[in-house]
Amino acid sequence: MARLQVRRLGYALGAEVTGLDLRQPQDEDTIAAIRDAWMEHLVLVLPGQDISPEQHVAFSRHFGALDPNDATPYYRHPQHPEVLVVSNKPVNGKPSETRNTGRNWHSDLSYTGRPAMGSLLLCKERPDVGGDTMFANMYMAYETLSPRMRQFLDGLEAVHDVTLVKGIEQRSPELVAEIKRINPPIAHPVVRTHPETGRSALFVSQRVRHFVGLSDEESEPILRFLTRHAVRDEFVYRHRWTVNDLVMWDNRATMHVALADFDQSKPRHMLRCSIQGEPLGYIYRGEGATTAQPEATHRTVVASVS
Ligand code: SIN
Repeated sequence: MARLQVRRLGYALGAEVTGLDLRQPQDEDTIAAIRDAWMEHLVLVLPGQDISPEQHVAFSRHFGALDPNDATPYYRHPQHPEVLVVSNKPVNGKPSETRNTGRNWHSDLSYTGRPAMGSLLLCKERPDVGGDTMFANMYMAYETLSPRMRQFLDGLEAVHDVTLVKGIEQRSPELVAEIKRINPPIAHPVVRTHPETGRSALFVSQRVRHFVGLSDEESEPILRFLTRHAVRDEFVYRHRWTVNDLVMWDNRATMHVALADFDQSKPRHMLRCSIQGEPLGYIYRGEGATTAQPEATHRTVVASVS
């Protein structure tokens, strides 16, 4: 077993794990120790991992089946479909469609019937300053609400809508039409019970349109409160990237945002593997037509915008 050192990076979440070389295969005990640290700290930073896409995929697979990114062949790594290229580097002379990925607070693929369980993002190039990613602890967000607010939210569902992905309109019209076709609005529980820790986590983000049974107007002030509350300073860890950092986060208990605070003419080039989560939620067809639709929960989804 590798001799791991785990060092906390933030009050709310985040820890650095050293003593690992992901160019080598990992044994079961090492993976179990990483998983334990992951469940405890929610975001792990594994620095100095100069790994190939094969090694990135092999390591990620220890934590579950990977999303093959079937719906976005033009963002997949040419040889490794499980690797999503999140980059502002032009593709065939055109602006990359993933140049503004993740610009509002979200949990990956929440606008699908199969939100990602986890994500592993590897930094290959970064600007001199900026381009950080912030993460929020959604257990804390839930646990610090008043009992009456928790009571109101327990059992409530929220409609996640891909059209609320910030910057979606900057993508090509054909792609946006395809993204919308593949991803109709999805209703998910507002409070999730984490299947591994048993803890309750708030599951809202800036990609939620409204609560099921409440109008947009009724929902808006509550959503605004919840999304601000969840990202209070004391619930957040901000990661400043170094090349070859591999950062893994648990989407079931966190949300994150990729900051645009950098010179966009400088490359920021990241590679991401997403671990498939459990099927969740149902296609929301409007009030009075909200019955669960199991077939919708196994969809392959558009990963390029998450
Ligand atoms: C993402 O939202 O998955 C991308 C995050 C980042 O590029 O920092």
